[in-house]
Amino acid sequence: MKSLQQYLELLQLSGIQDIFFEDDKFISPGSKSPDKASQLEELRKKYHVCQKCDLAAGRNKFVYGNGNADANLMLIGEGPGADEDRTGRVFVGRAGQLLTKMLQAINLERNEVYITNVVKCRPPGNRNPKPEEVECCLPYLEEQIEIIKPKLLLLLGKVAAVALFKQNRTLHSFRESNLEYHGIKTYVTYHPSALLRNPQWKKPAWIDLQKLQKDYESLDD
Ligand code: URA
Repeated sequence: MKSLQQYLELLQLSGIQDIFFEDDKFISPGSKSPDKASQLEELRKKYHVCQKCDLAAGRNKFVYGNGNADANLMLIGEGPGADEDRTGRVFVGRAGQLLTKMLQAINLERNEVYITNVVKCRPPGNRNPKPEEVECCLPYLEEQIEIIKPKLLLLLGKVAAVALFKQNRTLHSFRESNLEYHGIKTYVTYHPSALLRNPQWKKPAWIDLQKLQKDYESLDD
């Protein structure tokens, strides 16, 4: 895989921008494995008309996820808020701005990671998603994790942790545990919206992020 990437980088340096294959699909030498991004885009197009639960009725935009399909780190929030429902993009409101700063504090830019939510449509009034809504939407998230194959997961808040681990534990207990989700080392921390409401939790969140940073920086590629 590494040699393919080196070859593509070499082509890019020689001024070659695109490589065409027989079936009309092309990959750009600048991107590591473009098929992950196109797989995600195909799925987004397939699911954006989803009617599996009641959240569909109030939806403006289906908010699938954004970021680097080749990411080593994937972040999972709860569900879109008003700004996300309007734009179709994850974490673009106030919580999103704080999330961007949290990432920058550990030397990460948003475009390096992939960010999504447990539910892809906005729960009315920003309430927590109901268990049946989580159940309907979870296959989309499981599929995203399967395609991206991140090396680390960061779950933002209890809703994401309960949804993936199917255990009704406290956020504290998730934060204090060594977790693996299908072999992927998983961190749980406070949701940025909770940090906006409770700034005293920023200190423990910072401790979580520093642990994650250490692991992220010791990944081999
Ligand atoms: N809160 C979330 O959990 N997700 C978003 O995309 C925005 C706010």
